[in-house]
Amino acid sequence: MYGITPLVLLYSLCVVYAAKLAALPEACPRLPNKLPAPTDLPIIDDLPNPFRFFNNVSLKSTADWACRKAELKILVQEYMYGYYPDHSRETVRTVRTNGTLVITVSVGGKSGSFNATLELPTSIDATPRRPVPVVISAGGQNDTVFLGSGVALVTFNVGDVAADSTTPGGAFWDLYSGEDIGGLLEFV
Ligand SMILES: *[C@@H]1O[C@H](CO)[C@@H](O)[C@H](O)[C@H]1NC(C)=O
Ligand SMILES: *[C@@H]1O[C@H](CO)[C@@H](O)[C@H](O)[C@H]1NC(C)=O
Ligand SMILES: *[C@@H]1O[C@H](CO)[C@@H](O)[C@H](O)[C@H]1NC(C)=O
Ligand SMILES: *[C@@H]1O[C@H](CO)[C@@H](O)[C@H](O)[C@H]1NC(C)=O
Repeated sequence: MYGITPLVLLYSLCVVYAAKLAALPEACPRLPNKLPAPTDLPIIDDLPNPFRFFNNVSLKSTADWACRKAELKILVQEYMYGYYPDHSRETVRTVRTNGTLVITVSVGGKSGSFNATLELPTSIDATPRRPVPVVISAGGQNDTVFLGSGVALVTFNVGDVAADSTTPGGAFWDLYSGEDIGGLLEFV
């Protein structure tokens, strides 16, 4: 067993979903406490101007852009993707049996589980035992080059975390179904 920490897999959940919702900083223009229903939004015939706040005031400085960015994060979650859950409430347990990792994430009495495979580099200096870097891959590509370069590989099937489908499925939905959430698959 080398010094690989399967807990880093926790972050695999994070890369799959949209950036964490940041609260609006104090100095930023306020959004209404209750955002209008989509059908109550004004009709904009052209493309919306990204350099106007929700309240239609123009941005005037780069500092304003930090506020607009925070506002946009809220708006895309409200109107498009659903809200990013608070991952700080989760506990993650990983059980490794040889090359199989069973990762179970729990929150509020619910849990969701998915598997990953662990492959060690083909050539490693095993004495003394030492940590090796690990690449976490969502699969779908040829990653064998890492194994030949002293790097371990953990691969999981992104669909086991959240199905790329209009039908919810996967560990993320097992955990958060019923909440105003959504999956946004983003390959980086
Ligand atoms: C936003 O401001 C522009 C420029 O003053 C104006 O033309 C437009 O009608 C405003 N839109 C809304 C929804 O108030
Ligand atoms: C894990 O690997 C060991 C050593 O190769 C083997 O004896 C054992 O059967 C394996 N366990 C499972 C569950 O495959
Ligand atoms: C996950 O791994 C466990 C333990 O090896 C196995 O029992 C289970 O069938 C696997 N689940 C999937 C979806 O492959
Ligand atoms: C994956 O890439 C390696 C070289 O990095 C190559 O030897 C191997 O044939 C490739 N496998 C597939 C399935 O393309």
